[in-house]
Amino acid sequence: MSKPKVFITRKWPESVEAKLKELYDVTLNEYDRPLSAAHFRDALQHYDAVCPTVCDSFPAEVINVPNKRCKILGNFGVGFNHIDINAAKEQGLVVTNTPGVLTESTADIAMTLLLMSARRGAEGDRLVRARQWTGWCPTHMMSSDVTGAALGLIGFGRIAQAMARKAHHGFNMKIYYFSPRAADQHVVDDLDATRCETLEELMQVSDYVSLHCPGGAETHHLINEQRLSQMKPTAHLINTARGDVVDSNALIKALKEKRIAGAGLDVYEGEPNIDEGFLSLENVSLLPHLGSATIATRTAMGEKVLENLAAFFAGQEPPDRVA
Ligand code: DGY
Repeated sequence: MSKPKVFITRKWPESVEAKLKELYDVTLNEYDRPLSAAHFRDALQHYDAVCPTVCDSFPAEVINVPNKRCKILGNFGVGFNHIDINAAKEQGLVVTNTPGVLTESTADIAMTLLLMSARRGAEGDRLVRARQWTGWCPTHMMSSDVTGAALGLIGFGRIAQAMARKAHHGFNMKIYYFSPRAADQHVVDDLDATRCETLEELMQVSDYVSLHCPGGAETHHLINEQRLSQMKPTAHLINTARGDVVDSNALIKALKEKRIAGAGLDVYEGEPNIDEGFLSLENVSLLPHLGSATIATRTAMGEKVLENLAAFFAGQEPPDRVA
């Protein structure tokens, strides 16, 4: 029997690509070129499985291509807001993601950004590189304490809870969260966590607000001018979730006018095209969507896609099916 034809949209870790070559008639993207909607439509017509990732857009116009051969989108990533899930369901396309394996690395990056923003790490690095540091003095680049401060988490899933553990047990931070569901009692007890009834309450009480909700229509611009105005002027906003959860213009304005102290961002509206307004601000730390970017995590994400494809082609339910 011939092997299923599998299309991979971007370069993956080598060990995973080697396994793909063994198992499937696979087309890789060796040069890691970003592909267009036309490429994706063509792949859907000529391959049994297409494996996109978080920077590939699969709206209905792509998914609804006629004469489709593809039966499964094996997404490399936990977030799937770049795929029109309703269109996929209507077209009978199975969609899978890669939950669980990027929890700690993403929480690490959220904590990194929190520390960078609080302690002005990126700003200090720029100052030293520009040879503008004139030496230690008692009032130079004073910043905010992290230890003992209040951390407010919006969304309280795996990544938020991992961040809460690092913050509470490592930095003695007081944990608040806002989520549609109350957390399990053992989690609440372990973290001494307080659930806020409203988002407003969380914004007001937190020294650091960290976003961990999914992207998409329901959370689009959840953090807008009004929400930002509810934050303490000394507070920092951390986003490792999705760019469009935050209204960039409102955030740039709040940072410029020092209505909040700082922000640490790993994700952006319309990334990788970052709003120019951020680039000239000293009080924002900017990372290029590094949340899951460790060798071990990216390899584990690839392995998860392999597991999902293997189950699907064996006629079983893929473990991480989202559509
Ligand atoms: C994901 O998997 O959704 C992450 O954003 C990648 O780091």
